[in-house]
Amino acid sequence: MELKDKLTAIAEKASSEIRVVSSLEELENLRVSYLGKKGEITQVLKGMKDLSAEERPVIGQLANQVRDQLTEQLAVTRQRIETEALNKRLAEETLDVTLPGSKPKKGQSHVITQIMEEIEDLFLGMGYQIIEGNEVEEDYYNFERVNLPQNHPARDMQDTFYITPEVLLRTHTSPLQARTLEQHDFSKGPLKMISPGKVYRRDTDDATHSHQFHQIEGMVIDKHITMADLKGTLETLAKKMFGENREIRLRPSYFPFTEPSVEVDVSCFKCGGSGCSVCKGTGWIEILGAGMTHPEVLKMSGVDPEIYGGFAFGLGPDRIAMLKYGVDDIRNFYLNDQRFLEQFKVKG
Ligand code: PHE
Repeated sequence: MELKDKLTAIAEKASSEIRVVSSLEELENLRVSYLGKKGEITQVLKGMKDLSAEERPVIGQLANQVRDQLTEQLAVTRQRIETEALNKRLAEETLDVTLPGSKPKKGQSHVITQIMEEIEDLFLGMGYQIIEGNEVEEDYYNFERVNLPQNHPARDMQDTFYITPEVLLRTHTSPLQARTLEQHDFSKGPLKMISPGKVYRRDTDDATHSHQFHQIEGMVIDKHITMADLKGTLETLAKKMFGENREIRLRPSYFPFTEPSVEVDVSCFKCGGSGCSVCKGTGWIEILGAGMTHPEVLKMSGVDPEIYGGFAFGLGPDRIAMLKYGVDDIRNFYLNDQRFLEQFKVKG
Protein backbone atom coordinates (compact mmCIF):
# COMPACT_ATOMS: atom_id res chain seq x y z
CA MET A 1 0.00 0.00 0.00
CA GLU A 2 1.22 3.42 -0.76
CA LEU A 3 2.38 5.40 2.23
CA LYS A 4 -0.18 8.09 1.58
CA ASP A 5 -3.08 5.62 1.70
CA LYS A 6 -1.59 3.95 4.72
CA LEU A 7 -1.49 7.30 6.55
CA THR A 8 -5.08 8.09 5.61
CA ALA A 9 -6.19 4.65 6.79
CA ILE A 10 -4.38 5.05 10.11
CA ALA A 11 -5.89 8.51 10.56
CA GLU A 12 -9.41 7.19 9.95
CA LYS A 13 -8.95 4.20 12.24
CA ALA A 14 -7.49 6.38 15.03
CA SER A 15 -10.22 8.96 14.66
CA SER A 16 -13.04 6.42 14.88
CA GLU A 17 -11.41 4.72 17.89
CA ILE A 18 -10.94 7.99 19.73
CA ARG A 19 -14.57 8.95 19.07
CA VAL A 20 -15.92 6.06 21.20
CA VAL A 21 -13.43 6.29 24.06
CA SER A 22 -15.05 6.71 27.49
CA SER A 23 -12.18 6.89 29.94
CA LEU A 24 -9.00 8.91 30.25
CA GLU A 25 -7.06 5.68 30.60
CA GLU A 26 -8.29 4.32 27.24
CA LEU A 27 -7.59 7.69 25.66
CA GLU A 28 -3.98 7.63 26.88
CA ASN A 29 -3.51 4.10 25.52
CA LEU A 30 -4.72 5.27 22.10
CA ARG A 31 -2.38 8.26 22.16
CA VAL A 32 0.56 5.98 22.89
CA SER A 33 -0.40 3.48 20.22
CA TYR A 34 -0.59 6.19 17.49
CA LEU A 35 1.59 9.07 18.53
CA GLY A 36 3.93 7.45 21.08
CA LYS A 37 7.57 6.62 20.35
CA LYS A 38 6.61 3.31 18.81
CA GLY A 39 3.23 4.51 17.64
CA GLU A 40 1.90 3.85 14.16
CA ILE A 41 2.20 7.46 12.93
CA THR A 42 5.69 7.77 14.41
CA GLN A 43 6.67 4.62 12.53
CA VAL A 44 5.41 6.14 9.29
CA LEU A 45 7.37 9.33 9.89
CA LYS A 46 10.46 7.28 10.60
CA GLY A 47 10.03 5.52 7.18
CA MET A 48 10.20 8.86 5.37
CA LYS A 49 13.92 8.71 4.96
CA ASP A 50 13.43 6.01 2.30
CA LEU A 51 11.20 8.23 0.20
CA SER A 52 12.15 10.07 -2.93
CA ALA A 53 12.87 13.81 -2.80
CA GLU A 54 9.53 14.60 -4.49
CA GLU A 55 7.44 12.36 -2.29
CA ARG A 56 9.01 13.35 1.03
CA PRO A 57 7.49 16.87 1.44
CA VAL A 58 4.03 15.68 0.31
CA ILE A 59 3.96 12.75 2.74
CA GLY A 60 5.67 14.83 5.39
CA GLN A 61 2.96 17.46 5.16
CA LEU A 62 0.21 14.86 5.28
CA ALA A 63 1.84 13.07 8.24
CA ASN A 64 2.12 16.34 10.16
CA GLN A 65 -1.45 17.16 9.32
CA VAL A 66 -2.67 13.74 10.54
CA ARG A 67 -0.59 14.08 13.75
CA ASP A 68 -1.98 17.58 14.41
CA GLN A 69 -5.54 16.43 13.77
CA LEU A 70 -5.21 13.46 16.12
CA THR A 71 -3.54 15.60 18.79
CA GLU A 72 -6.42 18.05 18.55
CA GLN A 73 -9.02 15.26 18.66
CA LEU A 74 -7.30 13.73 21.70
CA ALA A 75 -7.40 17.10 23.50
CA VAL A 76 -11.06 17.70 22.69
CA THR A 77 -11.96 14.17 23.77
CA ARG A 78 -10.00 14.54 27.03
CA GLN A 79 -12.01 17.69 27.72
CA ARG A 80 -15.27 15.87 26.96
CA ILE A 81 -14.48 12.97 29.29
CA GLU A 82 -13.42 15.32 32.09
CA THR A 83 -16.58 17.42 31.75
CA GLU A 84 -18.75 14.31 31.75
CA ALA A 85 -17.05 13.01 34.88
CA LEU A 86 -17.51 16.34 36.63
CA ASN A 87 -21.19 16.56 35.67
CA LYS A 88 -21.76 13.05 36.87
CA ARG A 89 -20.20 13.86 40.24
CA LEU A 90 -22.21 17.06 40.55
CA ALA A 91 -25.42 15.19 39.79
CA GLU A 92 -24.61 12.52 42.36
CA GLU A 93 -23.75 15.02 45.06
CA THR A 94 -26.82 17.16 44.62
CA LEU A 95 -28.31 18.36 47.88
CA ASP A 96 -32.03 18.96 47.93
CA VAL A 97 -32.38 21.95 50.21
CA THR A 98 -36.16 21.78 49.97
CA LEU A 99 -36.35 18.44 51.80
CA PRO A 100 -37.80 18.80 55.30
CA GLY A 101 -35.06 18.73 57.96
CA SER A 102 -35.05 16.61 61.07
CA LYS A 103 -36.66 18.56 63.88
CA PRO A 104 -34.51 19.08 66.99
CA LYS A 105 -36.25 17.69 70.05
CA LYS A 106 -37.69 20.48 72.14
CA GLY A 107 -37.30 20.10 75.86
CA GLN A 108 -39.21 21.84 78.62
CA SER A 109 -38.70 22.94 82.17
CA HIS A 110 -39.01 20.30 84.88
CA VAL A 111 -42.60 19.92 86.06
CA ILE A 112 -41.73 21.31 89.52
CA THR A 113 -40.03 24.33 87.93
CA GLN A 114 -43.11 24.89 85.78
CA ILE A 115 -45.36 24.87 88.84
CA MET A 116 -43.04 27.19 90.75
CA GLU A 117 -42.91 29.62 87.82
CA GLU A 118 -46.67 29.59 87.53
CA ILE A 119 -46.97 30.48 91.22
CA GLU A 120 -44.25 33.13 90.90
CA ASP A 121 -46.14 34.72 87.98
CA LEU A 122 -49.32 34.83 90.02
CA PHE A 123 -47.70 36.54 93.00
CA LEU A 124 -45.62 38.91 90.87
CA GLY A 125 -48.92 40.01 89.37
CA MET A 126 -50.18 40.79 92.89
CA GLY A 127 -47.16 42.98 93.64
CA TYR A 128 -45.04 40.54 95.61
CA GLN A 129 -41.28 40.46 95.31
CA ILE A 130 -39.43 37.18 94.84
CA ILE A 131 -36.68 36.56 97.38
CA GLU A 132 -34.01 33.92 96.86
CA GLY A 133 -32.55 32.32 99.93
CA ASN A 134 -29.64 30.00 100.62
CA GLU A 135 -30.05 26.26 101.00
CA VAL A 136 -27.25 26.22 103.56
CA GLU A 137 -28.65 28.16 106.48
CA GLU A 138 -27.81 29.03 110.05
CA ASP A 139 -29.60 27.10 112.77
CA TYR A 140 -30.33 30.55 114.23
CA TYR A 141 -32.43 31.68 111.24
CA ASN A 142 -33.88 28.26 110.41
CA PHE A 143 -35.20 27.74 113.94
CA GLU A 144 -34.59 30.39 116.59
CA ARG A 145 -35.63 33.42 114.60
CA VAL A 146 -38.91 31.74 113.66
CA ASN A 147 -39.65 31.05 117.30
CA LEU A 148 -38.24 27.55 117.56
CA PRO A 149 -35.64 27.87 120.32
CA GLN A 150 -33.12 25.14 121.17
CA ASN A 151 -34.89 22.09 122.60
CA HIS A 152 -38.28 23.15 121.27
CA PRO A 153 -40.19 19.90 120.66
CA ALA A 154 -41.41 21.06 117.23
CA ARG A 155 -37.80 20.85 115.98
CA ASP A 156 -38.20 17.07 115.98
CA MET A 157 -40.53 17.17 112.99
CA GLN A 158 -37.85 18.92 111.00
CA ASP A 159 -34.76 16.95 111.98
CA THR A 160 -32.25 17.54 109.24
CA PHE A 161 -28.72 17.49 107.85
CA TYR A 162 -26.31 19.45 110.03
CA ILE A 163 -23.05 20.73 108.58
CA THR A 164 -21.81 22.06 111.92
CA PRO A 165 -23.89 22.40 115.12
CA GLU A 166 -24.74 25.96 113.94
CA VAL A 167 -25.10 25.41 110.18
CA LEU A 168 -27.53 23.11 108.38
CA LEU A 169 -29.40 22.41 105.16
CA ARG A 170 -32.55 24.44 105.76
CA THR A 171 -35.63 22.43 106.68
CA HIS A 172 -38.09 24.97 105.32
CA THR A 173 -38.11 28.33 103.55
CA SER A 174 -39.35 30.06 106.73
CA PRO A 175 -35.89 31.49 107.64
CA LEU A 176 -36.58 33.87 104.75
CA GLN A 177 -39.38 35.38 106.86
CA ALA A 178 -36.82 36.58 109.40
CA ARG A 179 -34.18 37.51 106.84
CA THR A 180 -36.61 39.61 104.79
CA LEU A 181 -38.28 41.18 107.81
CA GLU A 182 -35.04 42.44 109.30
CA GLN A 183 -34.05 44.01 105.98
CA HIS A 184 -37.37 45.60 105.16
CA ASP A 185 -37.84 49.36 105.34
CA PHE A 186 -41.51 49.82 106.26
CA SER A 187 -41.36 53.55 105.56
CA LYS A 188 -41.24 52.54 101.88
CA GLY A 189 -44.40 50.40 102.05
CA PRO A 190 -45.66 46.97 103.08
CA LEU A 191 -43.63 43.78 102.86
CA LYS A 192 -45.02 41.32 100.31
CA MET A 193 -42.73 38.51 99.33
CA ILE A 194 -42.55 34.93 98.22
CA SER A 195 -39.44 32.80 98.42
CA PRO A 196 -39.23 29.58 96.41
CA GLY A 197 -36.48 27.01 96.76
CA LYS A 198 -35.20 23.62 97.85
CA VAL A 199 -35.40 22.39 101.42
CA TYR A 200 -34.08 19.29 103.17
CA ARG A 201 -35.21 16.89 105.84
CA ARG A 202 -34.21 13.54 107.18
CA ASP A 203 -35.61 10.91 104.83
CA THR A 204 -38.77 9.20 105.96
CA ASP A 205 -39.47 5.85 104.49
CA ASP A 206 -42.48 6.57 102.32
CA ALA A 207 -43.36 7.42 98.76
CA THR A 208 -44.67 10.92 99.46
CA HIS A 209 -41.54 12.24 101.20
CA SER A 210 -38.06 12.93 99.89
CA HIS A 211 -34.95 14.15 101.72
CA GLN A 212 -34.97 17.05 99.28
CA PHE A 213 -38.12 18.83 98.17
CA HIS A 214 -39.40 22.30 97.38
CA GLN A 215 -41.27 24.99 99.22
CA ILE A 216 -42.60 28.42 98.48
CA GLU A 217 -42.74 30.71 101.47
CA GLY A 218 -45.04 33.69 101.40
CA MET A 219 -45.30 36.67 103.73
CA VAL A 220 -47.28 39.89 103.88
CA ILE A 221 -46.67 42.41 106.69
CA ASP A 222 -48.30 45.81 106.94
CA LYS A 223 -50.69 47.75 109.16
CA HIS A 224 -54.23 46.27 109.29
CA ILE A 225 -53.64 42.92 107.60
CA THR A 226 -56.30 40.42 108.64
CA MET A 227 -57.01 36.74 108.30
CA ALA A 228 -59.50 37.63 105.57
CA ASP A 229 -56.54 38.87 103.50
CA LEU A 230 -54.82 35.53 104.06
CA LYS A 231 -57.89 33.58 103.05
CA GLY A 232 -58.49 35.68 99.93
CA THR A 233 -54.85 35.32 98.88
CA LEU A 234 -54.84 31.56 99.32
CA GLU A 235 -58.16 31.19 97.55
CA THR A 236 -56.71 33.02 94.55
CA LEU A 237 -53.76 30.64 94.65
CA ALA A 238 -55.96 27.54 94.90
CA LYS A 239 -58.12 28.63 91.97
CA LYS A 240 -55.06 29.34 89.86
CA MET A 241 -53.50 25.95 90.62
CA PHE A 242 -56.58 23.72 90.70
CA GLY A 243 -59.27 25.53 88.73
CA GLU A 244 -61.77 28.37 89.07
CA ASN A 245 -64.43 26.33 90.87
CA ARG A 246 -62.21 25.47 93.83
CA GLU A 247 -62.99 26.58 97.37
CA ILE A 248 -60.71 26.50 100.37
CA ARG A 249 -61.26 25.87 104.05
CA LEU A 250 -59.03 26.67 107.01
CA ARG A 251 -58.54 24.21 109.87
CA PRO A 252 -56.82 25.10 113.15
CA SER A 253 -53.23 23.91 113.35
CA TYR A 254 -49.96 24.74 115.03
CA PHE A 255 -46.76 26.40 113.83
CA PRO A 256 -44.45 28.20 116.27
CA PHE A 257 -44.11 31.20 113.95
CA THR A 258 -47.81 31.86 113.34
CA GLU A 259 -50.68 32.45 115.76
CA PRO A 260 -53.34 31.46 115.00
CA SER A 261 -52.07 28.79 112.62
CA VAL A 262 -54.09 26.97 110.00
CA GLU A 263 -53.93 24.00 107.70
CA VAL A 264 -55.44 24.90 104.34
CA ASP A 265 -57.54 22.46 102.34
CA VAL A 266 -58.78 22.89 98.79
CA SER A 267 -62.02 21.30 97.60
CA CYS A 268 -61.16 18.18 95.62
CA PHE A 269 -60.45 18.99 91.98
CA LYS A 270 -61.15 15.42 90.98
CA CYS A 271 -64.63 14.84 92.40
CA GLY A 272 -65.57 18.45 93.18
CA GLY A 273 -66.13 17.62 96.83
CA SER A 274 -68.35 14.54 96.80
CA GLY A 275 -65.50 12.24 97.85
CA CYS A 276 -63.12 10.07 95.82
CA SER A 277 -59.78 8.27 96.12
CA VAL A 278 -57.73 11.46 95.57
CA CYS A 279 -59.33 13.21 98.56
CA LYS A 280 -59.71 9.93 100.45
CA GLY A 281 -63.47 10.34 100.57
CA THR A 282 -63.39 13.67 102.42
CA GLY A 283 -63.92 16.04 99.50
CA TRP A 284 -60.95 18.13 100.67
CA ILE A 285 -57.21 18.02 100.02
CA GLU A 286 -54.65 19.60 102.32
CA ILE A 287 -52.32 21.87 100.34
CA LEU A 288 -50.44 24.14 102.71
CA GLY A 289 -49.77 25.57 106.15
CA ALA A 290 -50.30 29.20 107.05
CA GLY A 291 -51.18 31.62 109.80
CA MET A 292 -50.95 35.10 111.22
CA THR A 293 -47.35 36.04 111.95
CA HIS A 294 -46.44 35.50 115.61
CA PRO A 295 -45.57 38.74 117.46
CA GLU A 296 -42.31 37.17 118.67
CA VAL A 297 -41.13 36.69 115.09
CA LEU A 298 -41.77 40.36 114.37
CA LYS A 299 -40.09 41.48 117.60
CA MET A 300 -36.96 39.38 116.97
CA SER A 301 -36.63 41.06 113.56
CA GLY A 302 -36.98 44.54 115.03
CA VAL A 303 -40.56 45.11 113.86
CA ASP A 304 -43.11 46.47 116.36
CA PRO A 305 -46.03 43.97 116.60
CA GLU A 306 -48.22 46.70 118.10
CA ILE A 307 -48.11 48.52 114.76
CA TYR A 308 -47.40 45.84 112.17
CA GLY A 309 -48.77 42.41 111.56
CA GLY A 310 -49.66 40.06 108.76
CA PHE A 311 -49.61 36.51 107.53
CA ALA A 312 -47.27 33.84 106.26
CA PHE A 313 -47.80 30.63 104.35
CA GLY A 314 -45.69 27.75 103.13
CA LEU A 315 -46.63 25.43 100.32
CA GLY A 316 -45.01 22.47 98.63
CA PRO A 317 -44.82 22.49 94.81
CA ASP A 318 -43.90 18.77 94.83
CA ARG A 319 -47.15 17.98 96.62
CA ILE A 320 -49.13 20.23 94.30
CA ALA A 321 -47.60 18.44 91.28
CA MET A 322 -48.41 15.03 92.78
CA LEU A 323 -52.02 16.00 93.42
CA LYS A 324 -52.51 17.75 90.12
CA TYR A 325 -51.08 14.96 87.97
CA GLY A 326 -51.92 11.93 90.10
CA VAL A 327 -48.27 11.03 90.75
CA ASP A 328 -48.08 8.62 93.68
CA ASP A 329 -44.32 8.50 94.25
CA ILE A 330 -42.40 11.75 94.82
CA ARG A 331 -39.15 10.08 93.75
CA ASN A 332 -40.36 10.10 90.14
CA PHE A 333 -39.64 13.83 90.08
CA TYR A 334 -35.99 13.28 90.97
CA LEU A 335 -35.03 10.19 88.93
CA ASN A 336 -34.61 12.19 85.71
CA ASP A 337 -36.44 9.60 83.61
CA GLN A 338 -37.25 11.53 80.42
CA ARG A 339 -40.25 9.30 79.65
CA PHE A 340 -41.81 10.43 82.92
CA LEU A 341 -40.79 14.09 82.74
CA GLU A 342 -41.83 14.57 79.09
CA GLN A 343 -45.47 14.14 80.03
CA PHE A 344 -45.71 17.50 81.74
CA LYS A 345 -46.25 20.53 79.60
CA VAL A 346 -48.07 23.09 81.67
CA LYS A 347 -47.25 25.91 79.25
CA GLY A 348 -47.22 25.57 75.45
N1 PHE B 1 -42.54 26.20 107.40
C1 PHE B 1 -43.72 25.38 107.54
C2 PHE B 1 -43.37 23.93 107.20
O1 PHE B 1 -42.35 23.70 106.59
C3 PHE B 1 -44.84 25.85 106.64
C4 PHE B 1 -45.40 27.19 107.01
C5 PHE B 1 -44.86 28.35 106.53
C6 PHE B 1 -46.48 27.29 107.89
C7 PHE B 1 -45.36 29.58 106.86
C8 PHE B 1 -46.97 28.51 108.24
C9 PHE B 1 -46.45 29.64 107.73
O2 PHE B 1 -44.09 23.04 107.54
